[in-house]
Amino acid sequence: MTESASQPIRIPFPDGLLETGIAVAVADGQEIVVLKQDDGYRAVDRWCPHEEGDLGEGMMYGTNIKCPVHGYIFDLARGQCINQFTMSIAVYDVEVDGDDLLLTQLSETKGREW
Ligand code: FES
Repeated sequence: MTESASQPIRIPFPDGLLETGIAVAVADGQEIVVLKQDDGYRAVDRWCPHEEGDLGEGMMYGTNIKCPVHGYIFDLARGQCINQFTMSIAVYDVEVDGDDLLLTQLSETKGREW
């Protein structure tokens, strides 16, 4: 997704999210990663804009996620990469609605190098 969504995107609650704290899902045709945080959930685009690392295998550091390939770190509030300021990832606010999640896009993926 490259443009801000005006309407939330509804997806089923991903399998395994409660157990592992991280799950890959599809939202509006795009692969995303849903992450459990202390105060709820967050979602990001699955593929790192650097060289397509799989953020579904990323490691969470508090309010950040670290790409497993070269270690770039993205903040989960705005999607900004703290290693490369021209780069960011799409971040989604996540609301639980029954058995579903409602995703609202907060930022866009920028600086893709692949
Ligand atoms: S592919 Fe993610 S940091 Fe290089």
